[in-house]
Amino acid sequence: MSSRQAGRFITFEGIDGAGKSTHLDAVAARLRDHGARVVTTREPGGTPLAERLRELVLHETMDPITEALLVFAARRDHLEQVIAPALARGDTVLCDRFTDATFAYQGGGGGAPLHVLGQLERIVQGALQPDLTIWFDLPAQLAAQRRAQARAADRFELQDLDYFARVRGGYATRAAEAPQRFVRIDAALERDAVWGQIEAVLKARAW
Ligand code: TYD
Repeated sequence: MSSRQAGRFITFEGIDGAGKSTHLDAVAARLRDHGARVVTTREPGGTPLAERLRELVLHETMDPITEALLVFAARRDHLEQVIAPALARGDTVLCDRFTDATFAYQGGGGGAPLHVLGQLERIVQGALQPDLTIWFDLPAQLAAQRRAQARAADRFELQDLDYFARVRGGYATRAAEAPQRFVRIDAALERDAVWGQIEAVLKARAW
């Protein structure tokens, strides 16, 4: 893994149904308008190999540690092939989910031991962390209502409310551990109000 990057690394996190993907596109457009070169990508995925691993994780039944091993394998390939080179070029990387999702889903939701996830995190990414993590937070019940109006569900999206409440708790724990990079967005509000909060975060950084 390359050393400290030149570009910015921004991740988008939250339980399914929080609306983060729409806002990722809007952030990309805004940063491009301000002259940044922007790479948008997602996890698990972002390379041909990582997209194949994504298919397995999303559709095959397995235990949470196996899930974590696969998402971290996908993450390693993604970092090596896409994220680190882009940051080294000075590009801004917007990633739809990253390691916080593993702590939230496999850890909080699935019960994988956090110290195991922490070891994998260090092996796979060394000291690399996002510069900013935009966390779309909302109650599990509301997220479920929004999901019900949307697309076909993957394996994680079929889990019950209690699971999503634990995932949300997993994000809250990670946010408390890294307050300097986490920004919590109230995603229970309507879309324009959510965007207003994100714009304020970007403006505060002169991005
Ligand atoms: P998601 O962003 O919801 O994709 P889409 O909008 O196309 O459905 O991500 C897919 C799922 O992957 C999501 O339910 C959470 C799960 N996931 C993990 O369980 N662990 C991880 O480390 C990551 C990155 C995602």
